[in-house]
Amino acid sequence: MKHIMASLALSLLSAPVVADPHSFAEPDKFLVRHVDLDLRADFDARRLEGTAELTVEQVDPDASELLLDTSGLEIRTVHLIEMSGRARVLAFRLGNPDPILGSPLTIEFPNCCAATSEMRIRIDYRTSNEAAALQWLEPAQTSGQHPFMYTQGQAILARSWIPIQDSPGIRMTYSARIKAPPALTAVMSAARVEDPSAAPGEHRFEMKQPIPAYLIALAIGDLAFQPLGDRVGVWTEPSRLAAAAYELADLQRMLETGERMAGPYRWDRYDVLIMPRAFAYGGMENPRISFISPSIIAGDRSLVSTVVHELAHSWSGNLVTNATWDDFWLNEGFTSYLERRLMEVLYGKRRADMEDAIAYEGLVRTIADLEAAGLGKDTDLKLNLAGRDPNEGTSDVAYDKGARFLRFLESRFGRPEFDAFLREYFDAHAFRSMTTESFRAELLARLEKAGAPRITVDEIDAWIYGPGLPPTLIAVPQGVFESVDRAAADWRAGKIATADLPVKDWVPQEWVRFLDQQPADIAREKLDELRSTFRLGAEGNAEIALSWLQLAIRANYAPAYPDLEKFLLATGRWRLVETLFRDLARTESGTALGRQIYAKAKPGYHASIRQAVERLLYPQAGSAAS
Ligand code: BES
Ligand code: ZN
Repeated sequence: MKHIMASLALSLLSAPVVADPHSFAEPDKFLVRHVDLDLRADFDARRLEGTAELTVEQVDPDASELLLDTSGLEIRTVHLIEMSGRARVLAFRLGNPDPILGSPLTIEFPNCCAATSEMRIRIDYRTSNEAAALQWLEPAQTSGQHPFMYTQGQAILARSWIPIQDSPGIRMTYSARIKAPPALTAVMSAARVEDPSAAPGEHRFEMKQPIPAYLIALAIGDLAFQPLGDRVGVWTEPSRLAAAAYELADLQRMLETGERMAGPYRWDRYDVLIMPRAFAYGGMENPRISFISPSIIAGDRSLVSTVVHELAHSWSGNLVTNATWDDFWLNEGFTSYLERRLMEVLYGKRRADMEDAIAYEGLVRTIADLEAAGLGKDTDLKLNLAGRDPNEGTSDVAYDKGARFLRFLESRFGRPEFDAFLREYFDAHAFRSMTTESFRAELLARLEKAGAPRITVDEIDAWIYGPGLPPTLIAVPQGVFESVDRAAADWRAGKIATADLPVKDWVPQEWVRFLDQQPADIAREKLDELRSTFRLGAEGNAEIALSWLQLAIRANYAPAYPDLEKFLLATGRWRLVETLFRDLARTESGTALGRQIYAKAKPGYHASIRQAVERLLYPQAGSAAS
């Protein structure tokens, strides 16, 4: 009995309180506290190979089996490393693979070995050559002469390169030794450890702050570095370094602005890695080093909000983490809210308002699409993704409806009060995970306090558990686009010639607005003129190109299709790719064209992006389509 009470108390202290439907881990039995990786990157075989040594805390003294998440891993041996350093073989078995979750790896502890409160387990393994977390790029897919590889852990892909408890509610520190081809450099979401005795091509890392498995990240390529301040800098392929440094000149100021808003930056350094064009995301918030798509390099710093967004994850997401992917809006909604607030301080209210209005249009479209597809439940902030790929929950709802919920709270609290609430929230829950329910409870408790604003439970729950946009939505500033909207209307009415559009005064966000507002039945000559006068196509500012190509699809404007194909072959970035294929999939002829383009583009896309596109182009076939 005493025994049970002790283990219960322990698990209440250290285990996440909620079950994660996307992990086989049993955190009430064991917790992985540290991972030490020793991996060699084999570019020819497209595999990582080596060992992961897990430091495991036994939470339940009666537990005799440790369950880890894996996907496609070939496990060679499992050893228990005794205090003396002696390695004892442990039996293990890999369960049948679940198409979404992968295979549970069960490690058995014979009577002799169980019930030490902390153990080291060494797993010798290699990854599949199709590991979902890994993307291996040929030199032709880079801007140099060398191959490139990187990992993408979010949401549940870490298990395809590390045998691990792959649940965002479980945090661990890590260290790593990576062997890469000597001409290449490795970076990780960790501090570099300079080791003069290291062999050529060997790189060491140490992450002292505990993070969930999805934030363990590695990239290897021909990389150069340029400092941009005392705590910040940029890594990228040498041929991009100057342009990247120019684009990111404000990085230090971004970091300082983030600290003033959200509290101390707890990860020591903040670097950015500008990736090859095939990178699957606009940005990925790997701690200490955000991975960022080169599509944000526009030459005029107009697309840096993506960097601000990933930086903001240093608080919302990386410091306070969604406990499960059903709580994804806690990561992305908070971050999108912070992003917009930081953009306002950094680049002014007009710029922030423009980006806000553009995001709103996207949200309204997404909600309509989800409802039309019978997925109205996915317009709630709190998701229910059990039995589904968590990437299916990645929509504007988490990002932008989430941000608008916080906007609403801000308006009732008043800005200074709400800012104080947020800072306290990040401090109180630093290095922990959060469920939607515990956030809600905390908010309600705060509303009980003297001087608190009047916000009802129903108003809150309409955002969290209700569909679409509730009546307490704060009006979105449309006035910022007044002049461009007027020019657009006059142009369509024939009052302004194409060559006389006041484009010299337009920032890229105004171009996006202009193009987004054009109807599907716009006159063909107008599109011809736009294209030839302003050389709209696959090149240049990626957001303008996206809006132009969306307009071309909407208007069924075939002359732009070669550029559409070019664009989709050149980028692997989820939002750009998914948006265009979604628009194509709205019509039969578009779907046919989409399938044609996808057949060519597919080899260059990351596994997650393939799945997302296949869901759109082959809806009946499910994720098995190809
Ligand atoms: N964490 C996300 C990327 C992500 C989401 C990876 C879901 C895997 C699953 C990242 O912070 C993000 O939101 N990136 C956006 C850019 C942002 C400015 C909205 C993207 O990639 O477009
Ligand atoms: Zn994000």
